Amino acid sequence: MRYQGREVDIEGRVRLVMESTLTARDRVGVQDFLLLENHNSEAAFIENLRRRFGENLIYTYIGSVLVSVNPYKELEIYSKPQMERYKGVSFYEISPHIYAVSDNTFRAMKTTWRDQCILISGESGSGKTEASKKILLYYAVTCPTHDHMTTLGDRLLQSNPVLEAFGNAKTLRNDNSSRFGKYMDVQFDFKGAPVGGHILNYLLEKSRVVHQNHGERNFHIFYQLLDGGSNDLLQTLDLERNPQNYQYLVKGSCSRVSSVSDKNNWKVVMNALPVIGFTEEDIQNVLNIIASILHLGNTLFGEGEEGEAHITTETPLANVAKLLCVDASVLSNALTHKKLITKEEEVIIPLNFEQAMSARDALAKAVYGRTFTWLVEKINQSLALKDDMYHSNKAFPVIGLLDIYGFEVLEHNSFEQFCINYCSEKLQQLFIELTLRSEQEEYTTEGIAWEIVPYFDNKIICDLIEEKHKGIISILNEECLRPGETSDASFLEKLEDTLGNHPHFVTHKLANGKTRKVMSREEFRLLHYAGEVNYNVNGFLDKNNDSMNRNLKEVMCHSDNQIISHCFSREEVTDQKRPEMAATHFKNSLLKLMEILMTKEPSYVRCIKPNDAKQPGHFDEVLVRHQVRYLGLMENLRVRRAGFAYRRSFEAFLQRYKPLCPETWPNWDGRLEDGVATLVNYLGYQPEEYKLGRSKIFIHLPKTLFLTEDALQAKKPEIALTLQTSWRGYRERAKYKRIRHAIIVIQSAWRGMKGRRRARRRRQAAELIRRFIKGFIYRHEDYCPENEYFLDHVRYSFLIKLSKHLPTSVLDKSWLASPPSVTEASEHLWKLHMRNMVMKYCNGIQPEWKNQMTQKVVASEIFKDQKENYPQSVGRLFLDTRIEHDQINLKVLQTLGSDKVQYGVPVTKYDRRGFKPRSRQLLLSNTFAVLVEKTKIKQKIDYASLGGISVSSLSDGMVVLHMPTEDNKQKGDVLLHCNHVIELVTKLALIARMLNYINIKPGSIRYAGARGTEGIVDFVRGSELKVAKGKRGHLLVTAPRINTT
Ligand SMILES: Nc1ncnc2c1ncn2[C@@H]1O[C@H](COP(=O)(O)OP(=O)(O)OP(=O)(O)O)[C@@H](O)[C@H]1O
Ligand SMILES: [Mg+2]
Repeated sequence: MRYQGREVDIEGRVRLVMESTLTARDRVGVQDFLLLENHNSEAAFIENLRRRFGENLIYTYIGSVLVSVNPYKELEIYSKPQMERYKGVSFYEISPHIYAVSDNTFRAMKTTWRDQCILISGESGSGKTEASKKILLYYAVTCPTHDHMTTLGDRLLQSNPVLEAFGNAKTLRNDNSSRFGKYMDVQFDFKGAPVGGHILNYLLEKSRVVHQNHGERNFHIFYQLLDGGSNDLLQTLDLERNPQNYQYLVKGSCSRVSSVSDKNNWKVVMNALPVIGFTEEDIQNVLNIIASILHLGNTLFGEGEEGEAHITTETPLANVAKLLCVDASVLSNALTHKKLITKEEEVIIPLNFEQAMSARDALAKAVYGRTFTWLVEKINQSLALKDDMYHSNKAFPVIGLLDIYGFEVLEHNSFEQFCINYCSEKLQQLFIELTLRSEQEEYTTEGIAWEIVPYFDNKIICDLIEEKHKGIISILNEECLRPGETSDASFLEKLEDTLGNHPHFVTHKLANGKTRKVMSREEFRLLHYAGEVNYNVNGFLDKNNDSMNRNLKEVMCHSDNQIISHCFSREEVTDQKRPEMAATHFKNSLLKLMEILMTKEPSYVRCIKPNDAKQPGHFDEVLVRHQVRYLGLMENLRVRRAGFAYRRSFEAFLQRYKPLCPETWPNWDGRLEDGVATLVNYLGYQPEEYKLGRSKIFIHLPKTLFLTEDALQAKKPEIALTLQTSWRGYRERAKYKRIRHAIIVIQSAWRGMKGRRRARRRRQAAELIRRFIKGFIYRHEDYCPENEYFLDHVRYSFLIKLSKHLPTSVLDKSWLASPPSVTEASEHLWKLHMRNMVMKYCNGIQPEWKNQMTQKVVASEIFKDQKENYPQSVGRLFLDTRIEHDQINLKVLQTLGSDKVQYGVPVTKYDRRGFKPRSRQLLLSNTFAVLVEKTKIKQKIDYASLGGISVSSLSDGMVVLHMPTEDNKQKGDVLLHCNHVIELVTKLALIARMLNYINIKPGSIRYAGARGTEGIVDFVRGSELKVAKGKRGHLLVTAPRINTT
């Protein structure tokens, strides 16, 4: 299995392939001094540095300490792809780099959730500030960011040019030398995103504001303002572009530096200020202050007759007053007088020329120094973690970056160098504390046998400087406070008296002849761990006092420039307590810094300057050797080689790496020590690679731990998988249980509902049946509550059934038998239905059918149940006529004239006497009927004169037309026989409107003969029709029997 380019087998054993890849890659020297053949040889050490430097390999490790040599040229090793290369990669897998330290610290912070710090040390110009900027850049680029944090990254980066403009200056050693110490905390959240920052600043070299050594400059901002500021801006500040015009800028005789572009840097600073939260007003106020200091430097004094000072240059003073927003005359007065407050009164004493000059310079230094502090505060406000984003910031770890002045030896060393070198001693002490001594002590307590490494413990020098009552700082303070005549010389004497016997302290008086030659009488020498330094006591008291006349402070605190009024508080003026001495203040802030650093896991970057000429490619061995010595790098290496690079408590070690061994994973139940032994055994640690102490495991080389760590990283996916599997299993089981529970709840609710619904239905059914039975019992009663349901149901059922069985034809007389309760309704319905059918039928029939029906109805009214052959006639259609028009003789038609023949039928006429049959045509017109014999009308009968019509009730066709007896022209009633008797009589009755004149006689018909005689026609039933004269002279008609069956 491969993991991050290395062979790792599946059981988690790391195959140690690193050594070979490392040496292959690191062709020039060794990239870790631990791998040096002769780790005790300083020469080999420096040779390794030199060889690597020659190949532009400026970084080399001593274990986890990074040694960096300033290349004095831009190298192509800081690009973004380079950053990516180092991200998440183990320290020693890849060539040494400041990014590797940054990344390692970051990961240590993330995995252990503990504060870290990176201590960058080295002498001035060795590249500390550059290193710290590279680290910040690495975090700003590679760390995850929140949207609002992108601005934080910007602010972190943008704070650098601003702080450098105000706090850096060109010195002989470095064109961009930090003239203040800086410790910066970057706070990260749980994702590893930078969320806040805070800067602590230490001892700004304020004296530079008023004085610079030859070849040095004031702080960059003054030159940047003059070079980069627009004409308008300079005009408003009453400044001229030429730095030579300002006394505070000419002391070093070096206003321009070739490697620094003040104009460009001015632009950078002006762009950065708004990013880190400066308002336009803030910027204007700051620039007013900077300009005021330049004008203050040009404010000169003259001396009066009694030696009192007065101001000789009104314009610069007026400018200062204008820019600082104070009253010019008050300021002028304050610069030339001092106020003494005794118990009884306030006394104003005029200053002499020197005093006035130093009051002016004190004011310039104080204004600049406090403005710088304000600037840092302001930057801190902009970097501060916003509490509203996170409820508590306490939990978030920080990475601290310490970029503080390195050990400094100048031609003339003063109070500042004393402080700077004291700081250097303290840091060295911390380094000893954290690495060498604590390491050796720990081996002893853990009972680990090892070779004792001698190292120089600089505690003795620290004590010499800081010890209470006996230390240099105490003596200096005492001298400052002591009443009576005190001076720098008296301070030196006091030092000699108190520290005369100290092995690390020498003065001209105490020194032997050789040393005496190189020391002036105003100097004292300290034998620092890093070398000997002569300090000139001139100015020590003043600088330590750092005092400003009270009346000048008063003027400042009434300033309308907001920064100045913020920096000079009114309480300070009224407060009678003496302010802290500069050295004590510095000591206390250093002690605080030590406390801060002690709580953090340190990483070290040791910077080395290859030459004093700031030249690329030039390696000055002497200079480098000196630095290697005072940085304690050889001791560092020896301890690392002799001792153990890493240690972990058994518990922590086991806890972290137990997944790598099946016997310790997931839990080890036995003794922790045995667990660790089992684990390292399984991992294949060789006996010389580690030792087990009383409570800790010690690992000799970092690579052993790194490989173990890598194996853990390689194993992590597997562990994650196991955790994921069980978590998913757990989650799915829980989900299953939840679903199952939900199903059961739904099921029971559903079943309950179904059961309730069924029960309700049953109840309703039982109720219905009960009502039904009751209704049935009461069915014959009137409609009442007991039977209403039953009866309604019966009615309803009947109506529904009826609707499906209605007769469809008028002739269909069937009708559904109705239950008693709906009999009446049923009858109504029947009638309605019948009428409806009839109406429908009637509306549907044709006119000729209507005519037929009319006739049939009339026939029915006349003959129904009266005449035997009537039923047979019902089914036969009545014809319009039985004699067609062309069958009637023309002559007859002519005789009839306009009277149209409505109906014609052949008949047999019987004489009234002899009953002789004669065939005739009977033609009916609208007003009369005629009997026609072929061509002749034999008889015409007016309907108006017709007395009646008689027929028998039998099935014969006899018709008797009764004529009026008084009509003489008529020869009596007419006896006719017609085969279509029903049709004929009906037509006649209709045409002649004689419906009520038709008689149907059962046995016989009387008829009138001619001239008053009377005859009778008898009717009997026989087998067939026969008309003949009967016995008594009657006409006997035998009608055939109708078979009705
Ligand atoms: N890694 C680097 N690559 C290129 N040049 C560098 C590098 N480190 C330092 N330098 C050069 O060296 C100069 C001095 O470096 P830097 O200002 O960081 O020194 P320093 O240790 O902070 O000094 P001081 O104590 O005076 O502040 C830089 O201005 C730059 O020109
Ligand atoms: Mg610096």
